[in-house]
Amino acid sequence: MFVYSKWWLCLFLILLQYNRTPAVYAQVFALGSCPNLSVVPDFKIDQYLGKWYSNRSYFAPSLSGLECVTTEYVKNGAKVTVKNIGIKRITRMRSSTTGTVRHIEPPNGKLNVVFSGDPTQGSTNYWILGTDYTSYSVLWSCMHFGIEPINTRIAWVLTREQHPTNSTIDAALAVLNKNGIDHSKLRLMNQHNC
Ligand SMILES: *[C@@H]1O[C@H](CO)[C@@H](O)[C@H](O)[C@H]1NC(C)=O
Ligand SMILES: *[C@@H]1O[C@H](CO)[C@@H](O)[C@H](O)[C@H]1NC(C)=O
Ligand SMILES: *[C@@H]1O[C@H](CO)[C@@H](O)[C@H](O)[C@H]1NC(C)=O
Repeated sequence: MFVYSKWWLCLFLILLQYNRTPAVYAQVFALGSCPNLSVVPDFKIDQYLGKWYSNRSYFAPSLSGLECVTTEYVKNGAKVTVKNIGIKRITRMRSSTTGTVRHIEPPNGKLNVVFSGDPTQGSTNYWILGTDYTSYSVLWSCMHFGIEPINTRIAWVLTREQHPTNSTIDAALAVLNKNGIDHSKLRLMNQHNC
């Protein structure tokens, strides 16, 4: 086994974080392999289209200045795109990223998004762990960035309503619990005065 220096690891994580575009999701870093989680077995992308509001997600510096974060899936012919939009807290300027969605192992909920204008970022896994299409969705991403022991993890709770009810959020948190994902690290996002 290879022993990685803590300093080196630290520097790598800082650079990785610094390099990120505001892809409007948050992440935590972890060591080891990505967990083998179960996704929605029969994912219906057509029912998933439209707008979702971000209720809470893992924290990341790239997200810390953003509020009113939404994500919208649009179908154009056979192509599905996703647009993540947030508003910068201080300047009130919009910040957005657009990507092309690939349904990689239909019919299951494993999606993959290639963000345009950022070839360095490559593609990002978007796994739909659970959704009822009409009120909540739980999105998960875990990826290795070249160096095997390090992975970045994203967990995201999305809702159809800008101000969801507690029972909607409870249904989403139950999906995270079922998959053994720690949701104490999720931060509430602001959706007021948007
Ligand atoms: C991941 O889990 C699925 C079932 O949930 C199982 O079929 C598959 O073999 C597992 N893969 C690995 C690499 O453990
Ligand atoms: C919803 O949950 C929050 C915090 O968990 C609590 O403060 C609030 O009273 C709950 N609202 C309702 C309508 O139960
Ligand atoms: C997230 O959901 C909770 C309900 O549990 C709600 O009280 C809160 O306002 C929501 N926050 C956002 C940003 O939607």
